[in-house]
Amino acid sequence: MKIGIIGSGNVGGALGKIRGKNGHEIMFSSRNREKIKTMAEAIGKNACYGLPAEAARFADIVVLAVPWGQAKSALLSAGPLNGKILIDCTNPLKPDYSGLAVGGTTSAAEELAKLAPGASVVKAFHTTFAALMQSDSRMFGSTNPTGFYCGDDSAAKKVVADLIKETGLEPLDVGPLSYARYLEPMAMLMISLGFAQKMGTNIALKF
Ligand SMILES: NC(=O)c1ccc[n+]([C@@H]2O[C@H](COP(=O)([O-])OP(=O)(O)OC[C@H]3O[C@@H](n4cnc5c(N)ncnc54)[C@H](OP(=O)(O)O)[C@@H]3O)[C@@H](O)[C@H]2O)c1
Repeated sequence: MKIGIIGSGNVGGALGKIRGKNGHEIMFSSRNREKIKTMAEAIGKNACYGLPAEAARFADIVVLAVPWGQAKSALLSAGPLNGKILIDCTNPLKPDYSGLAVGGTTSAAEELAKLAPGASVVKAFHTTFAALMQSDSRMFGSTNPTGFYCGDDSAAKKVVADLIKETGLEPLDVGPLSYARYLEPMAMLMISLGFAQKMGTNIALKF
């Protein structure tokens, strides 16, 4: 599949690398193309790089992995995503990481879906630390972590479940996109355990 990465940092870089190794065509993007040239070249013939709008045009699947404060502008700069799958990896953290900036009656995923009305939005990959996605394996002994996801389009969710499996996580569909209201706090809990409780980032959830 053709996958466009908007936000080629810790998460986007790791996911792009895994996808490239699995034979997908990847376009990394950045507001500064030169910053990600080496990242794309390291993957080889399956990867190229460009601006966010170029990655969105190129892709069947768009991965959004930017800080919450930039998510809406990054999505708008990508242009129309009609007919595409949009995987929302963001965590809507407050700028000081003390909690979530949205939640309860809505979620980052639902707010972003309003800005991309033609896209099938799936929330995924946000409860797993980037450090784990960057490592050679997602296994903890003989156990792999759960890759929680939710969305309203069952065909899009099937595609994302396959990508989750390919990443080495066990996909678990938790329901409609509005259930991101429950999945996003799970990621906040992981961030708190990892940093405030000093457990580090080599931790993950298993259902
Ligand atoms: N780090 C983790 O362990 C982890 C795990 C799961 C989910 N998440 C979530 O995933 C998201 C990304 O986290 P990260 O750690 O990968 O962040 P990061 O390493 O800081 O990377 C963010 C990327 O977003 C790009 N970006 C920022 N503003 C942009 C804009 N307006 N338009 C286009 N691109 C923009 C930046 O590229 P340029 O500046 O070059 O454009 C940068 O490469 C966050 O929402 C985070 O909460 C993080």
